[in-house]
Amino acid sequence: MTDAFVTIDWTGTGTIRLIDQTRLPLEEVYVECATVDEVARAIRTMQVRGAPAIGIAAAMGLAMAARTIQAPTFAAFYAALETHGADLLRTRPTAVNLAWAVRKLLRAAQSLRDLPLAEIPGRLIAEATAMRAEDIRINRAIGAHGQELVPDPARILTHCNAGGLATAGYGTAVGVIRAAAEAGKRVRVWVDETRPLLQGARLTAWELSRAGIPATLITDNMAGYFMHRGEVDFVVVGADRIARNGDTANKIGTYSVAVLARAHGIPFYVAAPTSTLDLSVNGGAEIPIEERGPEEVTEIGGRRLAPSGIRAANPAFDVTPASYIDGIITERGVARTPYDESLPRLAGDA
Ligand code: MRU
Repeated sequence: MTDAFVTIDWTGTGTIRLIDQTRLPLEEVYVECATVDEVARAIRTMQVRGAPAIGIAAAMGLAMAARTIQAPTFAAFYAALETHGADLLRTRPTAVNLAWAVRKLLRAAQSLRDLPLAEIPGRLIAEATAMRAEDIRINRAIGAHGQELVPDPARILTHCNAGGLATAGYGTAVGVIRAAAEAGKRVRVWVDETRPLLQGARLTAWELSRAGIPATLITDNMAGYFMHRGEVDFVVVGADRIARNGDTANKIGTYSVAVLARAHGIPFYVAAPTSTLDLSVNGGAEIPIEERGPEEVTEIGGRRLAPSGIRAANPAFDVTPASYIDGIITERGVARTPYDESLPRLAGDA
């Protein structure tokens, strides 16, 4: 078995090929999206998921849509592209990378307004392709900065999946773990299973096994047990949106891990590209949290666990206050408190 898998890429015929993350780890199958509506559906149903990956999927989907727009003028072309962008934005609300990617593609279209209309779609496809390649470079840079913080040896806990599957490749939090292993550090990973959708058990465990990095799967409620026993040295997680003050939205359960880490004196780091920063949002309370269907809680794999009629809550993300975060690892370096100064500096917005 090889480590290599491709999360998202073009096919030879200009459609988009995604590894179907709802079928992993039992089946490694790919879905092909031939329209932007199919891309939107793949994001909504989480065939592709993880903040950077849905951003790249949206950019590629929008570029693909540009080819099908029949418009007599640039204004009409751009209006149609904006409508597709708005449809993509409605798929999932928390990860800001989606809005970032749609905005970037729309800006690229604006910058091409003086070209003949027929040339614009090809240029947008090149832009989305470059964003995909850039995401992988960014993740390697996050890994390089982050691995310096990892002790040797280290027992690292991570939550959800912030790996190659959640990005165009390599991963953010998992990228830090990979880079530490590549640097020769002796790392072992505690993988939180991450209820309700089990991204840790299904996806992170699969990726780490393929990469040959020793990993042990635990249920989410075991993290405190192992921390208390002194068996966790370092925590690193990804992010879906980081507010100007450093408050970080990530998969539900991240906040509990951060509080536990602080209680046990364990360093807690967030790893994310600067495209996950939302400096227009001052604090975590302003971050929209996606509420998903109750069946994700009352069922596992389509099989009911709870009595019928029981209400179930299902916020897909929580916000970890900045005060629990020891550093935010980006491709441009590690931001430290006070984040409302360090993050704008890293973003080039100070
Ligand atoms: O609901 P998901 O699976 O899209 O949530 C993913 C996460 O919360 C990840 O930790 C986050 O997007 C970072 S991915 C590099």
